[in-house]
Amino acid sequence: MFEQSLNLRRVKPSATGAAAAKARALRAQGRDVISLDAGEPDFDTPDNIKEAAIRAIREGKTKYTDIDGTPELKVAICGKFARENGLTYSPAQVNVSPGGKPVIYNAMVASLNPGDEVVIPTPYWVSYPDMVLMAGGEPVFAPTSAEQGFKLKPEDLEAAITPATRWLILNSPSNPSGAAYTRAELKALADVLLRHPQVWILTDDMYEHLVFGDFVFTTIAQVEPALYERTLTMNGVSKAYAMTGWRIGYAAGPEPLITAMRKVMSQSTSNPSSISQWAATEALNGPQTFIKPNAAVFEARRDLVVSMLNQAKGLKCPTPEGAFYVYPSCEGLIGRTAPGGRKIETDQDFTEALLDAEGVSAVFGGAFGLSPFFRISYATSNALLEDACARIQRFCAVLD
Ligand SMILES: Cc1ncc(COP(=O)(O)O)c(C=O)c1O
Repeated sequence: MFEQSLNLRRVKPSATGAAAAKARALRAQGRDVISLDAGEPDFDTPDNIKEAAIRAIREGKTKYTDIDGTPELKVAICGKFARENGLTYSPAQVNVSPGGKPVIYNAMVASLNPGDEVVIPTPYWVSYPDMVLMAGGEPVFAPTSAEQGFKLKPEDLEAAITPATRWLILNSPSNPSGAAYTRAELKALADVLLRHPQVWILTDDMYEHLVFGDFVFTTIAQVEPALYERTLTMNGVSKAYAMTGWRIGYAAGPEPLITAMRKVMSQSTSNPSSISQWAATEALNGPQTFIKPNAAVFEARRDLVVSMLNQAKGLKCPTPEGAFYVYPSCEGLIGRTAPGGRKIETDQDFTEALLDAEGVSAVFGGAFGLSPFFRISYATSNALLEDACARIQRFCAVLD
């Protein structure tokens, strides 16, 4: 009989993937389901990027490349970090992996020993703790709250750090809360980190370009140059350029870490798709005109969803600074009963009853390590968002 490895038994499958699969299955049975569970833009990849990929195929750029990225893409990534983040990296400090997810995984595999701790603020992106576990490390959770805008406070970071701490994972703007750290907030965390030289920082900046109003995005190695030597600044083309299916993520950091990550890839995935790398090179070097109008569309959707959810009885929805998620509290509905007699005792009961009653698929907060909340992805059309939020209002109103 097949048995999973002891290490893999510590890991759970992605809850967001499971929610999306359940919604798809219900739709296949003929149910009218609106999916607010997926973490991908509903826009198409811009044409100049598609054309670059087609050109690469025609020109025969279809062979193995350097394991952790073509020289051309690495130069484009160095250009992006200099232009947008004021960070100077050389191509030898750059890793390109098949998606943002493998960048993080490769960094964990390259650096963790059994017992090493990784501090992860809650609510977190579902994959961080399980990637740490797969790499043999131990996630340590540092709590935040809605009152503090789901942002880690310096004293809570300090309390989570031990001599065994190897990494802090920061994610701004955040999946699932949409919260983004200001420069001053990052500086306050950096001041704690300066006192703990054993702690490296992995900053996941995937949603950098989705910030709203006059919010200014900054990243920690830029805010505190003294941390540059122990920061892995990670990003990717998936969200910014609507390229989730192309599978290109990247990071820059100290060369010994990048060399170790290349060693992991050399014995596992080898290089990311050559064609996708040429597409990503065009995304970073080509016109950036797509980005601002794209963010404006998401900002209008955020405002719509926050407003409609705050009109739902018993829900409280903070206004996040970025990404395309909101993370409302359903605390006001815990203890209530749904029309079929189902008692709402947890946020998972809430999202399951909502799916049953109204066909709206959202992801329960327990999956992100902070309850009782749920995550809504508003990366879908205004018409569907209005319909979904009206259904949520109706559902909340009939709870007894
Ligand atoms: C915070 C965060 N980091 C990383 C990723 C992974 O991106 P990719 O699709 O490029 O692997 C995601 C995707 O949902 C994400 O939300």
